[in-house]
Amino acid sequence: VIVRRISVNVSKKYDVLIGRGLLADIGKLIKPICISNHVAIVTDDIVSELFLKIIESSLGKCGISSVSFIFPNGEKSKNIDTLSSILEFLAENQIRRNDTLIALGGGVVGDIAGLAASIYMRGISVIQVPTTLLSSVDSSVGGKTAIDLKHGKNLAGAFWQPSMVVCDVDIIESLPDLVFSEGMAEVIKCNLIKDLPIINWIEQGVLRSHLEDVVFYCVDLKREIVERDEYDVIGVRNTLNVGHTVAHAIEKLSQYKYSHGIAVGTGIVIESQISMKMGICSPDVVKRIMTAIREYNLMIYDMPWTPEEMVDAMKSDKKNRSSDVVFELPISFGNCKEVYVNPIELKTLLKTG
Ligand SMILES: NC(=O)c1ccc[n+]([C@@H]2O[C@H](COP(=O)([O-])OP(=O)(O)OC[C@H]3O[C@@H](n4cnc5c(N)ncnc54)[C@H](O)[C@@H]3O)[C@@H](O)[C@H]2O)c1
Repeated sequence: VIVRRISVNVSKKYDVLIGRGLLADIGKLIKPICISNHVAIVTDDIVSELFLKIIESSLGKCGISSVSFIFPNGEKSKNIDTLSSILEFLAENQIRRNDTLIALGGGVVGDIAGLAASIYMRGISVIQVPTTLLSSVDSSVGGKTAIDLKHGKNLAGAFWQPSMVVCDVDIIESLPDLVFSEGMAEVIKCNLIKDLPIINWIEQGVLRSHLEDVVFYCVDLKREIVERDEYDVIGVRNTLNVGHTVAHAIEKLSQYKYSHGIAVGTGIVIESQISMKMGICSPDVVKRIMTAIREYNLMIYDMPWTPEEMVDAMKSDKKNRSSDVVFELPISFGNCKEVYVNPIELKTLLKTG
């Protein structure tokens, strides 16, 4: 098995392993960093059906015993009740401080299991095993963990870096089209932040034959950014918010009817149009962005909200520091800049064209 390794050098140094067939070898891969020979696996009901047996068998072969907590899949589970059930499960099963938690699943599992690990016995080690494209290229790396509250998404959480991330590209390869596409919004975003060959692979129709490189490039970009701003205090992590100002407004106004991927895809297109109208990016760049987003069906065509409603939703974004709305606008592929836009001007920009 060929494993590519990205070392993330933050308060806790850890490796992201990227390769094929890694799940079947997970026992061997994690053994060196497991202090005890006991782990708790947290996963959802879809992922457990697909991968729990493989992982348990691999752990068993290496003398690592495990218990598993399975919760219903989807964002609706990312709440305080599931968190509480995970913590009680860990205690009931006598998980100790030197045992390890394995978060096996997409971003929902990663976020809630990471948060549980950060507070159970004041913090135990967590290994992230992402099973969606989104969690592989984004949420499993960087240490942000969270649950949603009734008042909004990700409102309670902690920074808790994993001890390792194991990313099996074979899993990404076999994802249902919809789940795969949702992750592509974040992948396209990465190519707007950094000059990467990904957009060319999309345009040439060969992206899938470069999947390992795609994951590698995106994780390495995330590494670069979190190493510069681990706790999101100096604004460097805001770079990752291309498309997200509009996306958060769409999620909020639709009451999360649209997936994060579709909201981000549409957000990237609308923000690139704003950028063009402000003279920041060229029509050609917008056209390439739109074609890539359409390729993965990540565009909402019948947006039911008025520009006024959109701007009001964007004004409440937690990243804003004044009454202006902050964007990370694309200039071209590999080049973005932070721009504050006055709400009145923003309404006009959203209205025209
Ligand atoms: N912590 C961070 O930095 C960060 C960054 C971005 C997003 N997020 C969070 O990530 C979440 C979204 O992540 P997601 O899109 O992975 O969602 P998800 O975890 O809900 O997964 C999407 C769906 O795919 C299913 N699934 C997972 N793996 C599968 C597989 N291999 N085959 C078939 N189905 C599979 C899941 O059961 C689920 O139904 C959101 O809650 C978001 O807030 C966190």
